[in-house]
Amino acid sequence: MSASTQPGPNGNGPKTIPTISRPEERAAAAERARAYPYRFPRDRRQLGGQFSVEENARRLFRFFYFERRLMQALGAWTLSIPEFEVKLEMGRHIFYHADAARLFRERLHEQEKRLPDIDAYRNAEIDRFIEEMLSAANAPELLVGVHQVAGKALQTAYRHHIDNTDSITDAPTIRVLRRILTDYEPMLEWAEQAIAAYIEGGVDESRLGSWRWHLQRLLGSIAGITGADPRNEEPAPLRSTAKLFQRGTVPLRDLRFETFKNTGDYDTADATPRFPKDSYENLRLRFIRTQRDEVDAIEAFGTFIWDIRFKDFQAEYDLARITWDEARHTEIGHRALQAAGYDPFELRNRLTGSTCRGPMDPAFAMAEINLFGEVGVLKTINNLVDAARERQDALLLHIADFIRADERTHVRKGQHILKCMTNLGAQELELRTRELFTECLVSLGAVKSDMDVFTVSREDIEHLVGE
Ligand SMILES: [Fe+2]
Ligand SMILES: [Fe+2]
Repeated sequence: MSASTQPGPNGNGPKTIPTISRPEERAAAAERARAYPYRFPRDRRQLGGQFSVEENARRLFRFFYFERRLMQALGAWTLSIPEFEVKLEMGRHIFYHADAARLFRERLHEQEKRLPDIDAYRNAEIDRFIEEMLSAANAPELLVGVHQVAGKALQTAYRHHIDNTDSITDAPTIRVLRRILTDYEPMLEWAEQAIAAYIEGGVDESRLGSWRWHLQRLLGSIAGITGADPRNEEPAPLRSTAKLFQRGTVPLRDLRFETFKNTGDYDTADATPRFPKDSYENLRLRFIRTQRDEVDAIEAFGTFIWDIRFKDFQAEYDLARITWDEARHTEIGHRALQAAGYDPFELRNRLTGSTCRGPMDPAFAMAEINLFGEVGVLKTINNLVDAARERQDALLLHIADFIRADERTHVRKGQHILKCMTNLGAQELELRTRELFTECLVSLGAVKSDMDVFTVSREDIEHLVGE
């Protein structure tokens, strides 16, 4: 006879519960099993695991919060990363963190946590770490903090959680963690190589090393990712106590780019237009350049995540996805320029829009890029696709087809995001946005103001600032 235990009636120690197994029934069961012809794969998982639902949830809350904060943190830095490859890659990583946060949020909800409570979860210690990580002096230091310290520690915590939780009762958590790890592996690998490239290119390795050590100690002082590690002393001094982090407002580019912001028009920027103004060739090149120059849309949407942080999880998530899409549009543009025979860096990069949006209230910056820029793309793209088809221009047809689908999605998601940013009605929002962009475009010299009362039209903004 086997036995299991449970607490006694007075709570004073376990009491044996008898197993009442009847010999004839048991023998009959064994007989039936012998007659069963199939030998299916054996499931070797065991019941057990170290966590209760409550402890599991406590840990998942912290995972969720780290991921949400890393998404926001990378968003805050999008303007301030100069290197093209790094800016693009961070556009992707923002979404990886957003999607990890989404998966944890759903799993917590399955563990009977209410969505409003999950969204309202804050952790002052984790915030302290994130604020310090954000105080990186430059992009390589940012990567050290986000990937080598936080990312690596999260990866380890996820692996341990997979090993330590019950693989049967808590299988959905394990599946979530495995899916997240499939993003983490290439993400952290890329960051390792990027940091090595910075060092080979002359960035001081020992500065990065001491920043890494500092952040590791800080993470140790909050008991690590799970809050269950032994604590060490907090390192001092913290940069974030001396100076609170503020996101950058100026879009940075690496030295391969020549930029312009005195106009939004490519022909004006080029001085000598390459093709006649309304020719197909001109529209085509303008479309491809605009895509490459959507490196500024990574900056816009990434920055919005930071600026509206904690207002609404779905809005943050949608912004993160759009940020990744814009990173793809940038890549598409870069590669299409190559496919069209250009060195992408020989064509000057338009900084007009991002320069205006960078310091702006997110509601108006979002209204511009979403209601004018993306809607503007949709107004013209059908004709462009038709013209490309007529001319059998396979390159443009291919890229514009995918981009059209993405931009339609962005316009749709934009509705909810804008509602989280402002209570202004559509007309008021449009007017105020046009006024602010007029002011900015005049200050950049991109439009000439010859009247006292003057506001650029919607069409001008679509053309000069775009997406
Ligand atoms: Fe785009
Ligand atoms: Fe877009």
